[in-house]
Amino acid sequence: MTAGIDDIAIYIPRLYIDAIDFAKARGLDPVKLQKGLGVSQMAIVDANQDPACLAANACLKIMQRNKLSPEDIGRLYVSTESAFDESKAMNSYVIGMLEQVYGQGAFEHCGGIETKFACVSGSYALYDNTNWIRAGEADDKAALVVVSDIAKYDMGSSGEMTQGAGAVVMLLNDKPRLLEFDPKVTATSIIDEYDFYRPFGKETPIVHGQYSNLLYLIQVRKALDAYKKKVVSTGLIKIEPGETILDHMDYINMHLPYSNMGKKALAYMVRHEWRQLPRWKRILQEIGMDEPVPKDPRGTIESVLGDAEFMAKDHEFTKLFSKTQEFQEVYESKLASSLIASTMIGNLYTASLYLGFRSSLEFEYQKGIDLEGKRVGFGSYGSGASAMVFSGVIQPEYKQVVKDMNLEVEIGERKRLTWDEYENLHENKLSIDESMVHTKKEFVLIDVKTETESRGERRYVFNE
Ligand code: COA
Repeated sequence: MTAGIDDIAIYIPRLYIDAIDFAKARGLDPVKLQKGLGVSQMAIVDANQDPACLAANACLKIMQRNKLSPEDIGRLYVSTESAFDESKAMNSYVIGMLEQVYGQGAFEHCGGIETKFACVSGSYALYDNTNWIRAGEADDKAALVVVSDIAKYDMGSSGEMTQGAGAVVMLLNDKPRLLEFDPKVTATSIIDEYDFYRPFGKETPIVHGQYSNLLYLIQVRKALDAYKKKVVSTGLIKIEPGETILDHMDYINMHLPYSNMGKKALAYMVRHEWRQLPRWKRILQEIGMDEPVPKDPRGTIESVLGDAEFMAKDHEFTKLFSKTQEFQEVYESKLASSLIASTMIGNLYTASLYLGFRSSLEFEYQKGIDLEGKRVGFGSYGSGASAMVFSGVIQPEYKQVVKDMNLEVEIGERKRLTWDEYENLHENKLSIDESMVHTKKEFVLIDVKTETESRGERRYVFNE
């Protein structure tokens, strides 16, 4: 049985901090954010929003747009790394909110859990729900997988330049209009690491940014190698001499902690794949330097990052490689469109990869390209750390969904925060009833109980 993504919807909070305002307040060059990281605006949650209501707003949108009733949904999974409860799963909150609209008990039959593995858990949730459908367990029902996060870093930290917030929900079924997942090729890698983590009770993560960047690249490359073996052994793809697996992916979507990380990751993977090909000699000639190698042959992340000479040379090599016509062609045709939404919204942790997919669909369609039959590769990464590489094929009915996509309309009207407003929100100085905007037809948080017996209970309403 086949399965995949039938539709995709996003919910982005109505507040943002502009890169120019951010840079001014932090004494940075705005070009570092805009061009260096690819960050123009970062979405910020209001005082009456949490990841559960972002997720519920996205779910309501996709259900209403597709005229779905709760009976049509057999599973609702929420993937997040912004959980606020160690036990009660976030999907139960989402169901509680949706039942305010659809009636109490309307989702009683619907199973699901909250999944966690930093930014990669949404991909595991998609995979598990796809297989639930493929196994014939779905009983003609669809699954909703919603990825929802608030990427919030300490004030003044280097991660603060890469914040964002929002939710992306995907409707999965056995006759997907958008993308059918390739069977039996999903590949993973896993390792016990501390590149980025958030200990119990801490609102913001502990981050080793450059370490995390490099670990991301290594883990995704390992998963790509495993994926390659699977596509060859299953006969899904035949890689001819002189070709690489990337030649068989029409589009590539990468996890995007910030937009430019997608380009860095693509450059790293393309280098890895092209190194064995005859074309590499020509590219090295064009670049005018040999590919640098770290001094320490063990090549641990610490030793690589500590090798200042290698790091400087590798940085120079990557810059020159990224400017080659061969790489530019790959970048423009396979990746660039997926980065647009991220520059406008920022980091969405679990949802970043899927915001990128959504962005790619809209902006490639706008170019007038026929997307039917195109293979889309996904490179998912979660700190801690695990990567997942998988793929799918765009379906003949995709136009029914993609023709109406309009990112700006879907984001809606937004308020540009002043620095003081941003600081107040970041430092949780506003109470829930002091929200900056008053939205309609959206779920918002109205109370978090503090009494001993009910501590942590959350109440939400649907603003009519
Ligand atoms: N004009 C243009 N570009 C500039 C610039 C300027 N004035 N100043 C710096 N840049 C460029 C740098 O060259 C670099 O680009 P490059 O990597 O292509 O060379 C980019 O801007 C970022 O600068 P850098 O000095 O590397 O930033 P940083 O070390 O201060 O912080 C992160 C970057 C990503 C490490 C940091 O924001 C972070 O920790 N983020 C959260 C963790 C994360 O997202 N990890 C990813 C794995 S999930």
